[in-house]
Amino acid sequence: MSFVVQPAQAHSPSSLGSPSLSSESSHSGKSLRSVAPRYLRIGTAVAGGGHHVDQPYPDPFTYDKPYRKVLAKEFNSASPENQMKWEFIHPERNRYNFGPADAIVRFARENGQVVRGHTLLWHSQNPAWLNEGTFTKAELRQILKSHIFTVVGRYKGKIQQWDVANEIFNENGEYRQENIWIRELGPGIIADAFRWAHEADPRAKLFLNDYGVEWPGVKVDAYEALAKQLLAQRVPLHGFASQAHLSMRYGAPDQLAGVLQRFDNLGLETAITELDVRMDLPEGGVPTAEQLTTQATYYKTVLDACLAVDSCHSFTIWGFTDKYSWVPVFFPTEGAATVMWDDFTRKPAYYTLRDTLARALR
Ligand code: XIL
Repeated sequence: MSFVVQPAQAHSPSSLGSPSLSSESSHSGKSLRSVAPRYLRIGTAVAGGGHHVDQPYPDPFTYDKPYRKVLAKEFNSASPENQMKWEFIHPERNRYNFGPADAIVRFARENGQVVRGHTLLWHSQNPAWLNEGTFTKAELRQILKSHIFTVVGRYKGKIQQWDVANEIFNENGEYRQENIWIRELGPGIIADAFRWAHEADPRAKLFLNDYGVEWPGVKVDAYEALAKQLLAQRVPLHGFASQAHLSMRYGAPDQLAGVLQRFDNLGLETAITELDVRMDLPEGGVPTAEQLTTQATYYKTVLDACLAVDSCHSFTIWGFTDKYSWVPVFFPTEGAATVMWDDFTRKPAYYTLRDTLARALR
């Protein structure tokens, strides 16, 4: 993977970081988690690993105290951004690296947070020993099975939801051939991954998770067909999640509730797992007030979709501060995708989320 490092993001331009969109009054000082309906978990990715490794700062979760404070205060669900991915947690064939994931799970317990495990079967961020190794099909199957039993088993009872299968379809609704498991073992391996995860932790809710499913289309159709098939085979599939990595280039996610409802209709849980809203940064890197307003409405549209669908009990944003966002690294020229500036001051999107949560039916 190549990384394009962008110049540092703007620090809270004073004229723009104010709560322009909201009636701040009654719940100022309160956090997102404290105003949310009790049935709904408000989550964030916990920064570390992945693109952070190439940045000049130390591990954010471990060393950034103000970051940890906001993390504990605002959220009651935590998703390790990279720390449970194969390349990170299973760096050598016979060695696991549990320390950083353990630390997140401990922090979550101490702060009344649930954890979303991410992820078990994916095409990306797999270790070199796996990608470059030569294994028979039987060996590969055993490697996946043993990984799932080891990782899911270690956190048994401590993970609310697992993203078992991540991004398994491409934009045409076909199985991704870059996915080593699907390519080598066939799509039937997906059902096995769910069965193994369920055996290892029978209480964890097991999810399909993807981006590009915020609007109806062939990708959503593919997930719906797969979900029906797995349920018909009595595979322990419990949920369908929309990552919701949005860009203001592509318009508002105004059909998301309808998509989630289709999976709710199948009896599945639904979730928003990785929401962020990136924008093209003007020269100088500081978003305009209008851009921030539009961003806030995108965030609200996604939250409203979750609130409108009965089975949506988990709403997670992919990081809460631009300081650590993956967006400028992966989408050069775009940025400012989270709800807080680098110094944790709040953007309109933060206040809009809080207002919407405070007004939601409980
Ligand atoms: C991203 C992380 O945020 C980065 O730190 C990492 O370098 C690459 O992956 N879909 C997913 C997430 O399921 O795991 C990805 O996270 C973003 C897209």
